[in-house]
Amino acid sequence: MALTLIVDDDADAAEMLAAQLAERGHAVVVAHSLRDARRQLAVQPTELVLLDLRLPDGHGLALFDEPALAQASVVLMTGYATLETAVQALRLGALDYLIKPVTAEQLDAVLQRVLPVPSAEARSDWRQQVDASGRFGHLVGRAPCMQRIYQQIARVAQTGVTVLVTGESGTGKELVARTLHDESRRRERPFLAVNCGAISPQLMESEIFGHEKGSFTGADRQHQGFFERADGGTLFLDEVTEMPLELQVKLLRVLETGSFMRVGSTTLRQTDVRIVAATNRDPWQAVEQGQLREDLLYRLNVFPIALPPLRERLEDLGLLCTHFLLEIGQREGQAKRLSPAGLDKLADYRWPGNVRELRNVLQRVYVMSEGDTITTEWLPSNGPARAPAMALGGDPDLRVALGTPLADVEQRLILQTLRHYGNHRERTAAALGVSLKTLYNKLKTYESEPP
Ligand SMILES: Nc1ncnc2c1ncn2[C@@H]1O[C@H](COP(=O)(O)OP(=O)(O)OP(=O)(O)O)[C@@H](O)[C@H]1O
Ligand SMILES: [Mg+2]
Repeated sequence: MALTLIVDDDADAAEMLAAQLAERGHAVVVAHSLRDARRQLAVQPTELVLLDLRLPDGHGLALFDEPALAQASVVLMTGYATLETAVQALRLGALDYLIKPVTAEQLDAVLQRVLPVPSAEARSDWRQQVDASGRFGHLVGRAPCMQRIYQQIARVAQTGVTVLVTGESGTGKELVARTLHDESRRRERPFLAVNCGAISPQLMESEIFGHEKGSFTGADRQHQGFFERADGGTLFLDEVTEMPLELQVKLLRVLETGSFMRVGSTTLRQTDVRIVAATNRDPWQAVEQGQLREDLLYRLNVFPIALPPLRERLEDLGLLCTHFLLEIGQREGQAKRLSPAGLDKLADYRWPGNVRELRNVLQRVYVMSEGDTITTEWLPSNGPARAPAMALGGDPDLRVALGTPLADVEQRLILQTLRHYGNHRERTAAALGVSLKTLYNKLKTYESEPP
């Protein structure tokens, strides 16, 4: 049986916690000092360590230099929920923290998050899947960097910890989230995706947390938010850096306490939802720019998964092309394949829009190609590194008068960049560092309210 080690110098608190864990079927040992804890870790494999920070012979974080700790899930216990300690602990590899005194609900929530599901619950063997089919879940690819991603997904899927998926637009972040959900014991429960960049900030709180009837003008019915509807399942928070800061505070609270309130209500509701968040921006930069709360980032970043851009896994191009062409061929009723020269040309391209762009390119060339072989004719090429702007029909730079409203600057920048890239939306989104969806949303608003 897996062993839990409680490290706490307060003997009463440790006993109480040990009893609670024993009730839940854990084998428990207790250590009252760093020295005790080191001895315990050395004698038997430990799955979970609940670690107090103030110990008689030193600071709890000192235990992180113990090699045996690398095998265990570590959860901090702190009476002083200082951001700095929590941040430092999460950085060092703790999966979570508990605030003392530890309540039964808090303990359950944390155990559920950090402990792998017993292996009886089929843990799918990702390596077998990849060897057999060149894919894992929804993700196609065999490149070593993708195999590392699969390994991470398979491992973290068995726990309930929060996951942050980063990667350029079109690298497959949403597919990672879906695969993670399908590999977890939550697979029979809902997977819901919220695009924080697409919901208006005014509506987002009620979309996410729900609202009571009459809580604001237009709230003529009670409404269940994503947290309620995803109960027992997975909530995918896409483009999380676009979430308004006040809402980020509320999200942080849900992550810490497992409870939330509908808009217009004072009743706390419990929720059991695994959060997978994603962003195509550098989240640390978003923190620096004041768009993402640092404490929320640490909470989300408990288990980071960074997807490599397509240009760093070109060995998967052939596999991906076959996959997409098969899909398109089945839909259109005629099989077409890519010529070897075509594949070479694709490998020379830089793929700013990543796998999504590849899929769109193949869709286009499938339609354009006559016969059943796709040649190089309609395939994209990089063009000169710094294209002469006039040839592309746009200005190379944008001049704005001081004091121009930000929204106007943004609109001009977006439209001129789009023109610069010959209306190529993937390149435009990549150049501007926003997701394609964000670009589409912006363009849609410009259509409805022209300058
Ligand atoms: N590894 C992959 N295997 C198969 N298809 C993929 C893979 N990666 C991406 N795709 C394709 O690209 C599309 C975009 O993927 P996804 O929506 O997951 O990207 P994303 O990283 O979330 O992009 P964005 O940041 O723009 O939201 C998918 O619908 C799918 O068709
Ligand atoms: Mg996405």
